[in-house]
Amino acid sequence: MNLKESYKYYENIFSNIGGTESGGLTRLLYTDEWANAQRKMKEEMEAIGMTAEFDAVGNLIGTLVGSDENPKVIATGSHIDSVVEGGTLDGQYGILAGLTAVKSLLKEHGRPKNSLQVISMAEEEGSRFPYVFWGSKNLFNMISSEERESMESVKDGKGVGLVEEMRKHGFDFKADSDKSVEIDKFIEIHIEQGNYLEMIKKPIGVITAITGQKRYKIKITGQANHAGTTRMGYRKDAIYAYSKIVKSSIDMAIEEGDPLVITFGNITVVPNTVNVVPGEVVFSMDCRHPDGFILNTFTKKVEKNMKAICEEMGMKIELDMWMDAPPVPMDHGVITTIENTVKEMGIDYEIMHSGAGHDSQIFAPRVPTGMIFVPSIDGISHNPAEKTEDDDLVLGIEVLKNTLHKLAY
Ligand code: HGY
Ligand code: MN
Ligand code: MN
Repeated sequence: MNLKESYKYYENIFSNIGGTESGGLTRLLYTDEWANAQRKMKEEMEAIGMTAEFDAVGNLIGTLVGSDENPKVIATGSHIDSVVEGGTLDGQYGILAGLTAVKSLLKEHGRPKNSLQVISMAEEEGSRFPYVFWGSKNLFNMISSEERESMESVKDGKGVGLVEEMRKHGFDFKADSDKSVEIDKFIEIHIEQGNYLEMIKKPIGVITAITGQKRYKIKITGQANHAGTTRMGYRKDAIYAYSKIVKSSIDMAIEEGDPLVITFGNITVVPNTVNVVPGEVVFSMDCRHPDGFILNTFTKKVEKNMKAICEEMGMKIELDMWMDAPPVPMDHGVITTIENTVKEMGIDYEIMHSGAGHDSQIFAPRVPTGMIFVPSIDGISHNPAEKTEDDDLVLGIEVLKNTLHKLAY
């Protein structure tokens, strides 16, 4: 089985665990689809001769122990969860590419000197519960006992709690005695999820840093009222305030210019009824920039503008910034290893930053970390139409394989 066949074998299995009619993937943390995928992943890791163990919260770690007396740990991997109606590559490709690369290295070079690990991280997206990087943060024991208490109130859109779902699947918080993972290098391969590599016609991206991002849950309280009898001048229409905020915030982002991005992806209207003036709107805001200072300055401007609009319209606004992730640099040594690998393969590549968040941003401050990107067709992602040419997927796996070979053999 060559690399392409090997990868396609895995892709056919895992794209159908949580697969949707549109050809996409909905595999949310602690759902049955999520549990089935992790169980099957354990089987496949063991089938290639790895030991595969779940940690307390449901991260799955496959290990091929190295022959050295005290082998270092060279890890790769990504997240097993997806967004709602996402694609079959975001996260999943990074795990399956790792499996494919390790299986091929074992076949061609036998047991490595250093241990090779493939990690199927429990959750990265924050798509079911308002919490991100649940998997990678637990790998490094970053959930304090105070935070554990507050996790009891973390619920999905249907009011189901993260903690109860975790326990339903047989997992639980890590014990204080549970060790943090000990990894010497981490390499994550991921689709770019943008159109930059496609635009510049390069098949490989070598990542220098991951963008900073802030996510908010924002509530505007106006006044529900009769759609027929309430004259326009007497309304406190929360949707009207929301629309002014969205338009002015996006105009500010366009004026600020690339690579700043702002997204209003989620909205709930109350009472969401055709003949009632909306009394309340709860919505999300996601804002990102690779420069932490610019990101902070811009979001402060946007927050000030939102408050001024609501003040002027006589409505209340509540801002809850539940994610505040500064930009994270990758490790210079690992970047160089990936770059040398790509140069030796004679492949064209681009040194670039990541506009998307990744598990690597949790690893990088703790473990020398690097990322490899492959192009996304039309730059589409978080969408069933998320696709990458097979040749690019396979070339990415070859780069990962050769990089792991450099580090583990
Ligand atoms: O939203 C992101 O940047 C990532 O796909 N979780
Ligand atoms: Mn994603
Ligand atoms: Mn991802």
